[in-house]
Amino acid sequence: MTAPSPRKLIIAIDGPAGAGKSTIASRLARKLGYVNLESGAMYRALALKAILWDESFDDEEALLKMAHDSRIALEPTIGGNRVLLDKSDVSARIRERDVTEAASKVSVHSKVRAWMVARQREMGIGGGVVMEGRDIGTKVFPDADLKIFLEADPVIREQRRLDQQRVKGAPAEAMAAELRERDRRDRTRAASPLAPAPDAVLVDSTHLSEDEVLERIEALVNEKLAATRE
Ligand code: DC
Repeated sequence: MTAPSPRKLIIAIDGPAGAGKSTIASRLARKLGYVNLESGAMYRALALKAILWDESFDDEEALLKMAHDSRIALEPTIGGNRVLLDKSDVSARIRERDVTEAASKVSVHSKVRAWMVARQREMGIGGGVVMEGRDIGTKVFPDADLKIFLEADPVIREQRRLDQQRVKGAPAEAMAAELRERDRRDRTRAASPLAPAPDAVLVDSTHLSEDEVLERIEALVNEKLAATRE
């Protein structure tokens, strides 16, 4: 008799910038044949629209209206999410410094977050998804099958970001200061501050290679999959 095929899980990976979420989420999704969804890319797309439309990052109502009038789509590809804003491919533009900064600012608003959370639920509800962000395990999928909170020492996270950005020639000191400020904003905002869900598994990647992090998470996924077959 063949074993029943396992249910397709919802896997949440949360944590601060530079902890390695995107790489791990995308590698894990590929291994499992799941879809990888980067929720941060949606905040980035909205932030880009605010920049293009010269909208204030502090005007919650204007941002919410803009969100309602926008079409933000994530298309998972081998190399990460292709991000479409009103049908334009903004995948590269949303990674630039001004958008990174703006995304952290537009994401403090609770109404904007509620709109994002609703879209993100629609995208992941069928399972077979690795969704990464800041509030996936706490707000988007509080009943996710597996919740990972990926952390790393701030100095290491800064170094990783610098290594990524050095190619683009960004000044090191300014970059590190911006990362610290975004961290502070993400962790202290009133609406869904970055924090592990009570039932999240904490993984500290400070002294682990990417492969080691992936191995740990895969072991947890395999336990869950085995449990769904019982
Ligand atoms: O993961 P990222 O760097 O692409 O996220 C960009 C910003 O969006 C980040 O500063 C915080 C915000 N964000 C959020 O508040 N909630 C999420 N689920 C994902 C990102």
